[in-house]
Amino acid sequence: MKNTMMRILRTGMVLLVWFPFLGAFGQEITIDVDARKPGAPIQPTMWGLFFEDINFGADGGLYAELIKNRSFEFDNRLMGWESFGEVSIHEDNPCFDRNPRYVRLSYTTELNATGLENRGFSGIGLKAGEKYLFSLYGRTSGEAPVVLLVQLVSRSNVILNAKEITITGQEWQKYEAELTSPLTDAQARLRILVKARGSSADLDHISLFPAKTWKNRPGGLREDLVQALADIKPGLFRFPGGCIVEGTTIDTRYQWKNTVGPVENRPLNINRWNYTFAHRRFPDYYQSLGLGFYEYFLLSEEIGAEPLPVLNCGMSCQFENNDDHQHCKVENLEPYIRDALDLVEFANGPVTSHWGKLRSDMGHPAPFNLKYIAIGNEQWGELYPERLGPFIDALRARYPDIRIVGSSGPYPDGKEFDYGWQEMRRLKADLVDEHYYRPPEWFLANAARYDRYDPQGPKVFAGEYACHTPSRKNSFEAALCEAAFMTGLERNAAVVHMTAYAPLFAHYDNWQWRPDLIWFDNLNVVKTPSWYVQQLFSTRKGTHVLTTTSGEKPLTGQNGLYASSVTDKKTGEIILKIANTSPETRNVTYRIRGGEKGPLTAERYLLTSPGKEDENTLAEPLSVVPRKEEITLTGQEFTLSLEPASFQVFVIHPK
Ligand code: AHR
Repeated sequence: MKNTMMRILRTGMVLLVWFPFLGAFGQEITIDVDARKPGAPIQPTMWGLFFEDINFGADGGLYAELIKNRSFEFDNRLMGWESFGEVSIHEDNPCFDRNPRYVRLSYTTELNATGLENRGFSGIGLKAGEKYLFSLYGRTSGEAPVVLLVQLVSRSNVILNAKEITITGQEWQKYEAELTSPLTDAQARLRILVKARGSSADLDHISLFPAKTWKNRPGGLREDLVQALADIKPGLFRFPGGCIVEGTTIDTRYQWKNTVGPVENRPLNINRWNYTFAHRRFPDYYQSLGLGFYEYFLLSEEIGAEPLPVLNCGMSCQFENNDDHQHCKVENLEPYIRDALDLVEFANGPVTSHWGKLRSDMGHPAPFNLKYIAIGNEQWGELYPERLGPFIDALRARYPDIRIVGSSGPYPDGKEFDYGWQEMRRLKADLVDEHYYRPPEWFLANAARYDRYDPQGPKVFAGEYACHTPSRKNSFEAALCEAAFMTGLERNAAVVHMTAYAPLFAHYDNWQWRPDLIWFDNLNVVKTPSWYVQQLFSTRKGTHVLTTTSGEKPLTGQNGLYASSVTDKKTGEIILKIANTSPETRNVTYRIRGGEKGPLTAERYLLTSPGKEDENTLAEPLSVVPRKEEITLTGQEFTLSLEPASFQVFVIHPK
């Protein structure tokens, strides 16, 4: 009988009926869902994203620039470039005052040609038939024009396309060319040659972008990666970090004002993930800041998410600095606080204001309607609240409607965490950011974590979390444990107002940290099982929580089951989410109090996998994906057979 029912469930349209004999082949589990009185509203920000430039997520990732070290500002000025002939770096009379170095190519004495080759980020990804937009700033050092040959070169050294550019005059000017690739190559190169002997030219900001970017914006973002974000329909977008906000030193902290205005003049910063892990060093990891705060706000708007910028609170990374010498003294915080106030003006101010005008000049006269700001990332101890306090006072005085997110530190429990929360309550932060990178057992044991939180206090932002299995893979097991845990987030929507998995992106060849939500190489994107879990929750988030109990208690692991339910008042749908983490099939009977009489049509989404270590890979990107089927339910009471180790979502339509 059990097998018969399993078969029925697997065939497209099925009628799920009450089975009175369940006790004969398994424990009968009844789940009551009360649809008569919907509970807490689900915040639009509930299921969000957190972006940090880690794992080459920005340069070499989301930011579609294909040239590494385009401004010759890396500490090793020619890193990323291979040079031949007469090539030198200069900085006198520069084109861009905040990125002053440039390269001089001279072809005067040598027999060998002079030129440069850039290998991009583990190669330059080209697609057959696609156009690529090349540009540089150049000037000649003498009177005579200099002809450059710009070539796309394949991994196997075939010249794929070439264009000539003639640099004329001793004043800096921008030059552009369009190149088309006849074939697909994940590891191509860009080569620039001086064509004729006797010439010398200065070049800067050498850039190559695909013409096809997100919304075909020149100098824009990688379309496939943005699409993977948009498809989650996130309610929140937190940026730009993470640890990079703090910096290893206060000088290398993230400063948003350096990331706006013309990209050519945004000063380069080293990326702290360059050297953070001794076993995964990437000496060529820098931040061009071509993806800056304007682009983050625009992206948030275009994917329908509330922007949540994180600003430095006057402290550098506490993991790297165990005393306060590296932090800004409280009495010197004024420039940091001014940055926070100016950011609100940049996002929301009128075009007549200083920062509002810059936003408008960059292409967005309308305000971005910023509502939230986070001050500090993973801060702990007394040093933090004594700095956060003055920020809160200043922000409240000038922008009383902006909601402020404070930190509870890097760990989800313990002395510092408790102290952090106590201080956030005292300072009346609106939301408190909690982080947890923890093993499967933790996620399962913490499904009831927020049942105990005070709904009157600051709200919770689960701002960074991911289940870390021993293999550190983005395995199905990790995703299932996250799904189980997330039913607890959803059930507690009265206290949990925002959440985000972390980190978001990782380049297969260049990662520092795993697991991550989305993997990519120069041409492809792979969505992990965790991505599908996030998407199932976010795209079926409903508007209000429905009380969901078994034996009058929330289902937080009894029989390996974790469940939550919501209704969508706009559509009248009831949405059930249930994770079966046990190795057995579980038969559950749902009783929907106040639900409509059947038959009712519903969609069923099933995420499961034969092996708990299973993951999606470049070779097999769709190994673990949800299966959808249309089903018919008998009405207010029906029995479901839940596959072992599975996560399921049922969307029940009103008649
Ligand atoms: O997500 C990776 C890192 O984890 C973040 O930068 C930091 O906030 C946390 O420690």
